Amino acid sequence: MALVTSKDMFAKALNSDYAVGAFNVNNMEIIQGIVEAAQQENAPLILQVSAGARKYAKPAYLIKLVEAAIIDTGVDVCLHLDHGADFEICKKCVDDGFTSVMIDGSKHPFEENIKMTKEVVEYAHAHGVVVEAELGKLAGIEDAVNVSARDATFTVPEEAAEFVEKTGVDSLAVAIGTSHGAYKFKGDPQLDFERLKAIRKLIPETPLVLHGASTVLPEFVAKCNEYGGNIPGAKGVPEEMIKEAAKYGVCKVNIDTDLRLAMTAEIRKFLMENPEEFDPRKYLGPARDAIKGMVAHKIKNVLGASNKR
Ligand code: G3H
Ligand code: 13P
Ligand code: ZN
Repeated sequence: MALVTSKDMFAKALNSDYAVGAFNVNNMEIIQGIVEAAQQENAPLILQVSAGARKYAKPAYLIKLVEAAIIDTGVDVCLHLDHGADFEICKKCVDDGFTSVMIDGSKHPFEENIKMTKEVVEYAHAHGVVVEAELGKLAGIEDAVNVSARDATFTVPEEAAEFVEKTGVDSLAVAIGTSHGAYKFKGDPQLDFERLKAIRKLIPETPLVLHGASTVLPEFVAKCNEYGGNIPGAKGVPEEMIKEAAKYGVCKVNIDTDLRLAMTAEIRKFLMENPEEFDPRKYLGPARDAIKGMVAHKIKNVLGASNKR
């Protein structure tokens, strides 16, 4: 039981039809819920920390909480920096003991993205840490957008091949129609699977990553709204599409929004039904249980990662 890189996890997942869940963590209850679900399902696990999470909880707390979860459960965890904006934050995380970092140069021009990624790869690899990069822009698009507009937004397969070749990056996040948050699609959910297959064909040895992969589970949205929330029309990636993506080289599936919704739904319900209560353990406990149940469901029924540890 230890902090591990994603190398072995991805090597196993690459030519199979399951994917490893990468869940965003911000506090103790979230970490406990996720790690206990992975323990129950005997599943490989990536916990990821965003710049916002580092700012909110402070790196030392998150690292120590993850270490405590490993001791408590015996689950190996890959500790990953999510959306590192520059070399400095990636270096800091490598130095702090993260086993994986993402350098997200996707908003920069192609050559600049290559340069930034290469620099991080050199530093991280010298310290035994793996690197994820991103190519293409994560944004939902309208149904009727034409091919050249898609090429301007989504990952271009030939560029993906050149990018991996020039940077030596370990895994690549691709843009095929997902986006972050609870409002992913205006019309029917659509992912560009033909593009995913084309990318996979050109870089069959590179594990692919799907960001913005929350399903925005209707039961939690409904519960939030029932107990005083206001998130109408929220829509995510259907579970069947995540299963499909796992067949075409997607080894890592990023989930944050579904954690937020599960947690918020339980807290809203408890506080509304028990206005006299003010002990945080009374609502953070059920919130942690909801996260554990939701993550176990994903691992088992969507990612297909049960017993793949
Ligand atoms: O990719 C975004 C993740 O959901 C993290 O969000 O930057 O608000 O922590 P955050
Ligand atoms: P969601 O907003 O769909 O959960 O995506 C999270 C993510 O991609 C984190 O990097
Ligand atoms: Zn993301």
